[in-house]
Amino acid sequence: MASISNLGYFVLGVSDLAAWERFAVDIIGLQAGRRDERSLALRMDDFEQRIVLVKDAADDLLAVGWEFDTAADLVAYVARLREQGVAVAEAAAEQAAERRVERLFSCDDPNGFRHEFYVGAQRAWMSNGFRSKLMRGGFNTGRLGVGHFVAAAKDPAATAAFCERALGLRVSDYIRGELAPGVVLEVNFYHSATGRHHSMATAKIPFPFPKRIHHIMVEAQDMNDVGLAYDRCLKAGLPIMMDLGHHPNDQMFSFYVQTPSGFALEFGAGGVVVDDANWAIRSYTQLSDWGHHHPHPPAQQA
Ligand SMILES: [Fe+2]
Repeated sequence: MASISNLGYFVLGVSDLAAWERFAVDIIGLQAGRRDERSLALRMDDFEQRIVLVKDAADDLLAVGWEFDTAADLVAYVARLREQGVAVAEAAAEQAAERRVERLFSCDDPNGFRHEFYVGAQRAWMSNGFRSKLMRGGFNTGRLGVGHFVAAAKDPAATAAFCERALGLRVSDYIRGELAPGVVLEVNFYHSATGRHHSMATAKIPFPFPKRIHHIMVEAQDMNDVGLAYDRCLKAGLPIMMDLGHHPNDQMFSFYVQTPSGFALEFGAGGVVVDDANWAIRSYTQLSDWGHHHPHPPAQQA
């Protein structure tokens, strides 16, 4: 069965492009790529773009891009989605060009953003290699893709069915973490073929949540880059949403900073890669082994 290779890009709708560029380039260590009046492409590696910022009042996730190894895999996958009754449209050539990919399809997620499916992402020329002015090492991308995101599930059962049956994502594990007595955050974690512990997770958040996503995550190769990015956030006075800590399931050492759009960006290192041949699905009762404390309570955040 044709399956997704990896999560290759994020498209974020942001109201303040200039603030986002400063955050992405001067704090996180991404590189500004192509731009026009209403969008800015951010680079993390030798691809032309990994995170696309589009001027949009939503300040939320607009789309995620799932990469396929071959056009045949992509076409077979789309056919299977349609057999299950999912409405999938092929994008016009101009839209595919905007995403810097060869062929592009999309469908809606039950939680208000779009899934895009593609082959043939453009890499930058050698003469235009990725350069971060801040990172000691690179970002951990390649076959593992851009990183991960956690969607806020409006209807957790329908969302799980969509991820597992329609998208064909594989369960990595579960966390059922008690935030306060009787208040449980339920998170399902999903991986694709190349095995980043999770490319997508869905959360049943036990209080009203204004965004489609809780966070996106980017991963550094060098743990010191996590600490250095953390120091840059503190120096810039940015709101830390969750302090340095360690997750029990993906083994990520990370912190969470509030982006200019209000949702969080997790900056991490050390995430595990799933090998389906010997992976055991577990259920955890703790979101973090240590740390990840909330210096700024979520209620105070936009
Ligand atoms: Fe995360």
